[in-house]
Amino acid sequence: MDIKKIITSLTLEEKCALLSGVTSWDTAKIDRLGIPSTNCADGPYGLRKEKPVSEKDILAPSEPATCFPLSVTLASSWDVEMAHRIGQALAEEAIDQGVQTVLGPGINIKRSPLCGRNFEYFSEDPYLVAQLATAFVKGVQSLGVGTSLKHFAVNNQEFKRMMISSEVDERALREIYLYAFEKTIKEAQPYTVMCSYNRINGIFASDNKYLLTDILRNEWGFKGIVLSDWGAVNDRVLGILAGLDIEMPTSEGTFDRVVLKALQENKIMESDVDECLERILTYVDKVTENKAKRKETKCNYEAHHKLAREAAANGIVLLKNSFNLLPILGKKSIAVVGSLAKHMRFEGSGSSQVNPMHMVSFTEVLDQQAIKYDYAPAYGNKKTSSDDLRKAVEIARGKDVVLAFIGLTEDYESEGFDRKNLELPPSHNKLIEELVKVNKNVVVVLSIGSPVTMPWINSVPSVVNLYLGGEAMGEAAYSVLFGYLSPNGKLAETFPYSLQDNPTHHHFPGGPKTVEYRESIFVGYRYYDRANKNVLFPFGHGLSYTKFEYSDLKFDSKEVRNGQLKVSFTLQNVGAYPATEIVQLYVQDTESTIFRVEKALKRFARVFLKPNEKKVVHLDLDATAWQFYNVLTRNWSIEAGEFDILIGASSRDIRLTGTVYVFSNERVFPNYRKVAPQYYRLYKVEDFSKDQFVAIMGHPISENRRYTRWTIDENATLLDAKKVSLNGLILYHAFMKIAKKYVAKDAPRNTIIMAQKSAVGGPLRQLISFSRGVIDQEGVHAIILIIKGRLLKGVRLLLQTLKKNQNRPSKKSLYF
Ligand code: BGC
Repeated sequence: MDIKKIITSLTLEEKCALLSGVTSWDTAKIDRLGIPSTNCADGPYGLRKEKPVSEKDILAPSEPATCFPLSVTLASSWDVEMAHRIGQALAEEAIDQGVQTVLGPGINIKRSPLCGRNFEYFSEDPYLVAQLATAFVKGVQSLGVGTSLKHFAVNNQEFKRMMISSEVDERALREIYLYAFEKTIKEAQPYTVMCSYNRINGIFASDNKYLLTDILRNEWGFKGIVLSDWGAVNDRVLGILAGLDIEMPTSEGTFDRVVLKALQENKIMESDVDECLERILTYVDKVTENKAKRKETKCNYEAHHKLAREAAANGIVLLKNSFNLLPILGKKSIAVVGSLAKHMRFEGSGSSQVNPMHMVSFTEVLDQQAIKYDYAPAYGNKKTSSDDLRKAVEIARGKDVVLAFIGLTEDYESEGFDRKNLELPPSHNKLIEELVKVNKNVVVVLSIGSPVTMPWINSVPSVVNLYLGGEAMGEAAYSVLFGYLSPNGKLAETFPYSLQDNPTHHHFPGGPKTVEYRESIFVGYRYYDRANKNVLFPFGHGLSYTKFEYSDLKFDSKEVRNGQLKVSFTLQNVGAYPATEIVQLYVQDTESTIFRVEKALKRFARVFLKPNEKKVVHLDLDATAWQFYNVLTRNWSIEAGEFDILIGASSRDIRLTGTVYVFSNERVFPNYRKVAPQYYRLYKVEDFSKDQFVAIMGHPISENRRYTRWTIDENATLLDAKKVSLNGLILYHAFMKIAKKYVAKDAPRNTIIMAQKSAVGGPLRQLISFSRGVIDQEGVHAIILIIKGRLLKGVRLLLQTLKKNQNRPSKKSLYF
């Protein structure tokens, strides 16, 4: 494709048309110049290619595909190679189903354990996220299928995700929230990046030049295109100037026409649009050529199922195992209680939801293996009768082992809304309380997408966390519970004792317009360790059926002059089981001008050892081990001094320590001891003060006034509108109904809830893309008038708009 030549041959209308999708999943084509359409589909942990019949439906049914373990589960295997293999397998399925780019991975940081979408994200630790994401992207793209790194950036909650402003200081932004994006972009060059819905320090991601151009392209050298998250466009013209290339999905040309007008009125230059077009056409050319070059690839769904099983098994975390109750070896009588054993919750809800090719439940595996067991569902989907509970307790009585399957059901976790607390469903907790009264050999088997509290923890001997393991979760559970594989997963997130212990507790999910990231860099274990908080299970924790011994820590030098340090130690399997250990290296800065975290993960490795076997493990460090982001020099910085190297089996189970001296010539470091002392003595801080937060921000935080009837604008939500006027309330209910109508008829309840929460929790301007342009900008203006009480004028205008746009959605590729 001669891109420069094509750009000069395009009419203005055609140029504008190329800046947006033509359906939910396809980019625009211009036949006369040979520009083809390209397509994409969701796919962080499996392909979700919607069936063609359903263009109008939100979250329509999709073609069957392998449902791999969810990102939360893959992350707890800390298996970088596996992330690459899953990426490749996913690409094979994409090729098989004719998909050119998969919309994933999602790499947002788990700031709060309540974020409804945490199952789709990897970890609270940016280094771990970066390692997995880089491997995953490389895996997918090794077969010429594109990825979309999402959601860029600082999108860490679902509440008002489409308009809230994440207020974050520059250092936390760089060290915590952008770190994995930076590494993955530099090392794997994803074909596309998806900008998030939210604002970052007051500016929407979709028109944030600082993020999309200054950082992404100029600093990091990103070469691909930026897509908007679905309906995330705020101001399309500002977006073009900021570096947002394609608006997704189609708004039926609504925003294309806005761009055309801006061009005609000289509000933007044609060269600004051409810059986007050059990138778009380079991308189109690349994915089209990849498709043409492809030989007949074979997609072996059976092999992918096996891969999903291996990955799911490695992601299982044995949280507790007193008196070695597990594995179930030679136990004669087994009770399986809890309907999650039979109807497993194996994946999340929302845009990532896969239609599994081959789902196998735990009880099916037991049946296939001819294992005898008694089963009782114990709790119902909605209500648990005392009879259900009684039957479960009855079959548990006297058994050698009771496997109690409990967890978060799909009403609890989903894209579109956050959890309200860390608790398991009351009926599930009640079940455990009753079971332990009659049997002391209760193994709790958890199906969860994020941390939960465990009020019964001291009365059960064993807890196994399956997380959400994808379609082979039942088989994976079987292999670990019955001892065919020693569990080796380790938590990629902390399980706090209570929500109150979490550093974001007072500032999540925020509102009405902003959420303040007052904890700064103290996210997850970086906070709990610094604040000396006891936790239920620490970051990096996971038990095994064997024991490992760590010894003989060595450095190639005690003085680090160019950032490089070679670290080695010996690991030995001193138990009876062949098993894999995930060893972790943390770095602790013992003294510094800037406030620092207690320790941060810098390297890890999965090491397999047979009983008695030992290996020397090598972990080499580079400058990134000692750096922090220096807001004064606007660069990564090292302050000379002593650093401790900690080798551990978890963040709280450090087995070996040593100290090195790191040299540096740098002398300029921010010092907040006077203006923000709270960040230096976290153990005394109950809540982070606003003044000190503003001091480290270095600029005021964005305006956060509640909307009133008079200030409602296109970025207000119907949640805001319902509070300011009766008309707002009526519209709120009307849109709850409409959203339900747009979901496929047989959609599960949580999909309906998600669609409704998105409709009323998104900015009013988003109705443009939700309605596929039936409501256009004039329509949004009309709705605002109605909310403000100017009923007649508003209704008249709305009716006019609806009439004008009655033929939408159309399926044309150009809308002029
Ligand atoms: C989600 C994205 C997803 C897109 C398309 C959005 O609502 O945030 O992650 O890729 O929809 O389904």
